Amino acid sequence: MHIYTNEKAIAAIPISLVTKEEWAESSHKTTRNKWLHATGFEGKEYDFRFIPGKNGQIKEIVIGYVKENPWAISDLVSKLPEGVYTLKPKLARHTLFHLALGWGLGAYGFKNTQRNLLQNKLLLIENETLLFEVSTFLETFLWVRDLINLPAEILTPLTLAEKAKKMAEGFGAKTTILSGEDLKKFNYPLLYAVGKGSINPPSFTKIEWGNPKHKAVTLVGKGITFDTGGLNIKPDSGMRLMKKDMGGAAHALGLGQLIMAFNLPIHLQILIPSAENAISGNAYRQLDILDSRKGLTIEIGHTDAEGRLVLADALAESSSHNPEILIDFATLTGAIRTALGPELPGFFTNKPSIAPLLMKLGEQHHDPLWHMPLFRSYKKWIKGRNADLCNVASASLSSEVPHAGAITAALFLEEFIPQDTTWIHIDFSAWNFGTRPGRPEGGEAMTLKTIFSFLNQSCK
Ligand code: BES
Ligand code: ZN
Ligand code: ZN
Repeated sequence: MHIYTNEKAIAAIPISLVTKEEWAESSHKTTRNKWLHATGFEGKEYDFRFIPGKNGQIKEIVIGYVKENPWAISDLVSKLPEGVYTLKPKLARHTLFHLALGWGLGAYGFKNTQRNLLQNKLLLIENETLLFEVSTFLETFLWVRDLINLPAEILTPLTLAEKAKKMAEGFGAKTTILSGEDLKKFNYPLLYAVGKGSINPPSFTKIEWGNPKHKAVTLVGKGITFDTGGLNIKPDSGMRLMKKDMGGAAHALGLGQLIMAFNLPIHLQILIPSAENAISGNAYRQLDILDSRKGLTIEIGHTDAEGRLVLADALAESSSHNPEILIDFATLTGAIRTALGPELPGFFTNKPSIAPLLMKLGEQHHDPLWHMPLFRSYKKWIKGRNADLCNVASASLSSEVPHAGAITAALFLEEFIPQDTTWIHIDFSAWNFGTRPGRPEGGEAMTLKTIFSFLNQSCK
């Protein structure tokens, strides 16, 4: 990746960040400022100008800036010629980290079936450690985006498992992959049932890394490579983007990659249950009664509530690692989007005392997420009529109408977590629905900066 450099020798072109206030206060007597004024520059966010040098070269870029916007220079990447650039004035480390990452993310595109990265527009980061941090985050974020953007025809449950394995082996982690009938044999009944309707067999990937003396952390990610809704089929508009239904898996793998790359003192386990929720003569049906790894029986109320099923078996398996912290990522419900909109992930936790810290970290890292309630009174809605649990909420025995789809999904998952673990469940879209600076329409990494910093603080 040619996105950053630390070679000071190169004459880098300065990019000057100027706020409206700074512009208003600055003297307009210099030729440079007269020129900026003449071209209508007012310091408006994202508005930029080239300043020519004596020999017709680009001497400087001036861009309007609103303080701490991490996306301030993201759009420049596509608008500047190849070269080396450096940020002015000297910025705080935290600010530089976010601006530099925003620069790299702005270079990203996805075309046909591949990453399309704008290269050779280099941002100078002189500090070696910071360069490593920014590059590592960028690499991870771009990988997460790639995984989400890949069409389901290419990214099947088995190819997802292979990609996970390749990443993990780069860090010397141990990986095991189960697939197809083996999932039945090794007792992942829910994952098997969801995946059995597809020609692409389901998979379960387990990654283990680190020193067993360190704090045990398990990451779980929903890996539905395409969600048709199964026999209770989704309508056209609801199905179109469902290649992204493995966004949770991409995030669990991305966060795992960060933990390993930064060598955090964590004994890490990553679990990826992956399946294609397809329609066929072999697909699972409404009112099927399924066993689960945990032993609870599940009545199928709707085949489109498949995410909580595959996650349930993975959450039950996490007890093999005895995690102090268990985090799952999932594009689990449309209801979370109704509640919070597409840009704001929701999180649920059985330890609400950590929620304010997570919200605060989210704000600090420009990577927000919002605390949602595990309102246990709604557990009555996920009881099964002919089994322990039903995979969708229903209340036909009373006049109540179940709402709160994101909460009932979270309550369903909670039934499967090991005892004595701090559990965080993240329900999100993992997608940019439109293009904004540094965030092209398509797959997106969300909450990773925040959750990484939470783990960095919690595991010392
Ligand atoms: N993958 C979907 C949820 C989803 C939809 C995420 C749109 C992002 C965008 C999930 O498997 C699903 O279909 N959930 C259903 C559950 C319902 C049947 C109880 C939903 O949310 O409608
Ligand atoms: Zn679904
Ligand atoms: Zn789904």
